[in-house]
Amino acid sequence: MMALTGLFLITFLIVHAGINAMIFFNDGGETFAHWAHFMGTNLIIRTMELVLVAGFVVHIVDALLITKHNKAARPVQYAYSNPNANSTWYSRSMGLLGTIILLFLIIHAAHFWIPNRYNQFTTGEELNLFTRMQDTFSHWYVVVIYVAGCFSLFWHLMQGFKTAFQTLGINHPKYNPLIKNVGIAFSVIISVLFASMPISMFFNLVH
Ligand code: HEM
Repeated sequence: MMALTGLFLITFLIVHAGINAMIFFNDGGETFAHWAHFMGTNLIIRTMELVLVAGFVVHIVDALLITKHNKAARPVQYAYSNPNANSTWYSRSMGLLGTIILLFLIIHAAHFWIPNRYNQFTTGEELNLFTRMQDTFSHWYVVVIYVAGCFSLFWHLMQGFKTAFQTLGINHPKYNPLIKNVGIAFSVIISVLFASMPISMFFNLVH
């Protein structure tokens, strides 16, 4: 479930980053608004939104259950442990990184998702998400929060992308290097692309 919901959330990230990247056309948000409108009103996408919320919930709840199970399996700690010898810091910090991403998501939902859905339900109108982005990212501390969120997402994906395949049994000496390298490229591209959005809006490079 961790792996399947993780891969599903990865596909969401691709769509989300792809549509948001349309702001870089520098056409006053016109192309972005077109696709944001499609995403905000299409019935299939609206239904997928419920699946997305369920995906996040299962991913988080399963993470907590697995952590509890792991702790219960070893009530007495090892007398000697040198974790750096065979694991990375970020593989051992998936829970912490995920929690930072969750905090980011709560702030993020308060900026865009909740006000937009609220407006849609009450007035039937969508908000102008492009000008809302410009307003939101005119504050340096918001930009810092977003960049920190993207930084945590980067390390979370660096571990999660490849281990999702391993968990599903897609683990073969022939293909592992490919999966690892695609995972690294994906983590870099998605995180840098997302982080570049608040940064370029703050410096008025997107208009
Ligand atoms: C850093 C740059 C980002 C920008 C500028 C951005 C912008 C937006 C905007 C404008 C919306 C509103 C869509 C709507 O109301 O229809 C949205 C929704 C959302 N964003 Fe982001 N986002 C960013 C990064 C992220 C990241 C890194 C994640 C996940 C880790 C994320 C997860 C979500 C989710 C779950 C939604 C709700 C999707 C839905 O409408 O169903 N966003 N984002």
